[in-house]
Amino acid sequence: MPKPKISKPDLTCTHPDTGVIAAVRIGDCREQLLKFQQVKDQSVDLVFADPPFNWARDYDRHETGDAWDDAAMSRKEYLDFTYAWLDLCAQSLSPTGSMWVNIPDDSAAEIVVHLKSIGLHMVNWCIWHYRFGQNTKGKFINSKVHALYFCKDPNNRTWNSDPILEESDRRAVYGDLRTESKKDGMPAGMRVPMDVWYGPYWGRIQGNNKERRAKHDNQLPELYLHRVIACSSNPGDTVLDPFLGSGTTGVIAHAMERHFIGTEYSKPNAEMAFERIVDGPVRALGALRGESTAIQEQRVKRRVPRKKPLAANG
Ligand SMILES: C[S@@+](CC[C@H](N)C(=O)[O-])C[C@H]1O[C@@H](n2cnc3c(N)ncnc32)[C@H](O)[C@@H]1O
Repeated sequence: MPKPKISKPDLTCTHPDTGVIAAVRIGDCREQLLKFQQVKDQSVDLVFADPPFNWARDYDRHETGDAWDDAAMSRKEYLDFTYAWLDLCAQSLSPTGSMWVNIPDDSAAEIVVHLKSIGLHMVNWCIWHYRFGQNTKGKFINSKVHALYFCKDPNNRTWNSDPILEESDRRAVYGDLRTESKKDGMPAGMRVPMDVWYGPYWGRIQGNNKERRAKHDNQLPELYLHRVIACSSNPGDTVLDPFLGSGTTGVIAHAMERHFIGTEYSKPNAEMAFERIVDGPVRALGALRGESTAIQEQRVKRRVPRKKPLAANG
């Protein structure tokens, strides 16, 4: 198959203050991705992908009739599709690049095995935990999605812990003074978050959640993308999302001074996501830095005062 030519993206904008560019192409990511120069040049610093799950999800909430049919593929076809986009994304990475995949239980194992087989290295197998899963009586209620974190070179990957630090349980629950003079180089009382993610503003985006966009039922929380983008890229880097959906990755990347490139099969989805990228995030990004996610009650009177609660923009 001939390689597609670089062409102008369908939607582009430049951030008025920072000058970073967001560019979106409409169509199947397997055809559209190679039209980006950054993909061809292998200069993408971070890929975040939240693919269709083959669960017969309705991606045609605009009722155009030409949206992605999430029920059309057999299991084999779905896995072949999955491996095709994974390969394209992995090939786009810069030498220090990382790739994150948001995926439920049924395909996580296959994706992990495939990414290892093409030479990527697993850094973390994180879990996004939420409390409002679908009720089930005959088996345990599902309350998680996997956030698979891979990199190209385990000895040379972009990693920033400082913007994502949280208060350690040792300080929040026990008020342990030893956490105030840490020997591991971390600021007093702080730690890198654990690999199970939950907390205020980490729930599924539904009901009257302020972040919720019309005509999307699988939107990720802004804080999830803030964490991924903050730890795995730097201002001025390029972030890629092949499955834009309501645009969460683009919104946060653009607001965090990263260049953004993305693809989306459905034209109305892409256009609405783009409007959201221009509007910017709802939450005050980074406002939860230093907060505690402890689930135990505080056992000892605090010696260090609690941070003020999260302020939101809207
Ligand atoms: C799970 S949603 C992404 C949600 C997104 N992370 C958010 O926060 O809104 C998947 C999206 O991928 C799009 N999609 C499905 N197959 C695609 C393909 N082959 N190429 C590009 N986009 C595709 C669907 O239209 C849908 O909007």
